Amino acid sequence: MNRPRRLLFVFGTRPEAIKLAPVIDMAKREKDRFETQVAVTAQHRGMLDDVLDVFGIRPDADLDLMRPGQSLFYLTSAIVREMEGVLERFSPDVVIVQGDTTTAFAAALAGFYSHKKVAHVEAGLRTDDKAMPFPEEINRRLVSSVADYHFAPTDSARRNLLEEGVPDGNVHVTGNTVIDALLGVLERHPADGPCPIDEPASIFAAYERVILITGHRRENFGPPFQAIWTALAASARKNPGVAFVYPVHPNPSVTDRVRRVLKDLPNCFLLPPLPYPAFCWCMARCRLIVTDSGGIQEEAPALGKPVLVTRRVTERPEAAAAGMVKLVGDDGGAIQSWIQRLLDDPDCYAEMAKGGSPYGDGRAAERILNILKNEETP
Ligand code: UD1
Ligand code: UDP
Repeated sequence: MNRPRRLLFVFGTRPEAIKLAPVIDMAKREKDRFETQVAVTAQHRGMLDDVLDVFGIRPDADLDLMRPGQSLFYLTSAIVREMEGVLERFSPDVVIVQGDTTTAFAAALAGFYSHKKVAHVEAGLRTDDKAMPFPEEINRRLVSSVADYHFAPTDSARRNLLEEGVPDGNVHVTGNTVIDALLGVLERHPADGPCPIDEPASIFAAYERVILITGHRRENFGPPFQAIWTALAASARKNPGVAFVYPVHPNPSVTDRVRRVLKDLPNCFLLPPLPYPAFCWCMARCRLIVTDSGGIQEEAPALGKPVLVTRRVTERPEAAAAGMVKLVGDDGGAIQSWIQRLLDDPDCYAEMAKGGSPYGDGRAAERILNILKNEETP
């Protein structure tokens, strides 16, 4: 094949956009090797558009599918249906998806239906529990079953795929592209420089110590979130000199309910989702992080920030094994006591803040594209 290889990147949510941006950026620079097209499902709208702005990505197709309180049934069927036309229009050689969202699963399935090669970035993460995370554990397994290229971030992700019978030659350990994105953004907005936006900056100026919080997992909806927020409220009351900064995910199952528990506490700051550069600045400047996010579990160790993960299991075992991340689940007592230890016990803090980057070195995009250049594989 003499013409450039035609790559179609398909994504829809904030984390997919962040993690594919470095690959898209590099592919677009290699015009002699790749013709690069971008289709967004807009499973997320506002949060996706923020990331597209930050990385200067202009989609070639925008399915504009987000609906308030959308169901998995709606999303999955709409993406598969709409992707038929997108695939006909772009006729790619390879469809590239990332992670474990419904967009990733449905776009990979659509690529398979149209006999295209499918490449999966961040392949092989597993908890071996189909309820946790829901529905992501099954989404990513389904992507693995149709993918031709499996870009595993770590050796343990590679082993998971080999154990499931994926041929060794189709699995490539690349590191996670989130570290490429993080390092790129921090180069443009250094942590010792000004915050890219005002509001978190004023909180960091007023408080010496800040705890950064996020939460959105479906399996935490209802009583688990209630327990997590109640524990955070108790910690905030006990530590009035510490700011609890919480950019709230716009899912209606989260937004209104979290306000009821935390909004009246003077040292709790419920913010809208932050643009990626501002969020990276907050991660780099905060004392510790409490989150159920996948991406933040990968980024925080690279910044030397301890993370309390409000989940019972994680598909990212490397940072926990290295002692940089603790799984606290929705156990209110564990959440409060770990926050207190990290605030009061310098040795415990130093051990968890020792830093390291088990998920990547910032060169994952380059490795992925080097493999995609070779059209003989897999
Ligand atoms: C989705 C992914 C999850 C990923 C998360 C990252 C699925 C099933 N879930 O979960 O794997 O970890 O994104 O954040 O793929 N909303 C807005 N504006 C936005 C985004 C969302 O208003 O920019 C609201 C809408 O009401 C939307 C709802 O949030 O219907 C839920 O969005 P959805 O993508 O279905 O689920 P997430 O919880 O965001
Ligand atoms: N993030 C952001 N703004 C915020 C919260 C998170 O830019 O207000 C970034 C974060 O740095 C990480 C990604 O969003 O790169 C994680 O997204 P999310 O937690 O929504 O999804 P997950 O990683 O759990 O799939």
